[in-house]
Amino acid sequence: MNQFTSVNDVEDISQLVKDALALKSNPYADQQLGKNKTLGLVFLNPSLRTRLSTQKAAINLGMSVMVMNMDKEGWALETEDGVVMNGSTVEHIREAAAVMGQYCDILGLRSFPKLVSREEDYNEDFFNKFIQYCGVPVVSLESATRHPLQSLADLVTIRETWKGEAKPKVVLAWAPHIKALPQAVPNSFAEWMCKAQQEDMLDFTIVQPAGYELAEDFTSGAHITHNLQEALEGADYIYVKNWSSYKEYGKILPYPEGWMLNNELLKGTNQARVMHCLPVRRDLELSSEVLDGPNSLVIQEAGNRLWAAQAVLKGLLQKLS
Ligand code: CP
Repeated sequence: MNQFTSVNDVEDISQLVKDALALKSNPYADQQLGKNKTLGLVFLNPSLRTRLSTQKAAINLGMSVMVMNMDKEGWALETEDGVVMNGSTVEHIREAAAVMGQYCDILGLRSFPKLVSREEDYNEDFFNKFIQYCGVPVVSLESATRHPLQSLADLVTIRETWKGEAKPKVVLAWAPHIKALPQAVPNSFAEWMCKAQQEDMLDFTIVQPAGYELAEDFTSGAHITHNLQEALEGADYIYVKNWSSYKEYGKILPYPEGWMLNNELLKGTNQARVMHCLPVRRDLELSSEVLDGPNSLVIQEAGNRLWAAQAVLKGLLQKLS
């Protein structure tokens, strides 16, 4: 693994999940690996879990960590090539990324989509330029289209909690929201679950109202439906998440009543465990009765962000040394 921006950067997802769970049992065994190595975390958007779990993961590995809130503390960055910088941007990403690469052995980057132009967001122009110019391995802390550290933690949580004999049925279920949210988390979850399904680890279903279908590049092999009751029938895991429309890009489309998961909907499942990446809006996106109930895995899932990040950083450090 030379970078971590999607499931495609991982040779063996099953082994990476095992590595994360091994680190959970023995967090400080690799403290020499990160000695005299520096991780830089660059945020263009807010974060709680990604910021703290990745910092803690690096500390567990003996690394030093620097955090840059680029949106608040950095110069306004230009990404276009060939422009005269006589507007509001102060520094070009060519220099900014290259300079950060001078100070850090590994860099993490969070850069959300603008949800205005689908082409611009799905080209991952900013992310790819940062990778191109920084000259060191990059970990995605969530890009315009993917959130792989979250998805790895999600797979770790499913592996850790599944005690059944047969493969679990995992359902990604769209949920309501008042704001237009990116598709990065569901795209990435779908991509990782499709890969896990290919490797016979689980069965994967996606359910969303008409108009909210994700890009096909991320959902190959998934069972896709608009029928929530059918999707939830016999489910072992429900991954609740809102996203805005991909087809009518970045829009909130009308949807029928009844998409917020509650205890009534859980009755049709196989006592499904409920997951969400957080932050979550209570009683809008997911009911309090489910969040506070025995089926919720959201805190364990957030805890596993640490071990996912540590497994990824360990893999990158091993390539450096
Ligand atoms: N799930 C997640 O990425 O949380 P933060 O946005 O708080 O980092």
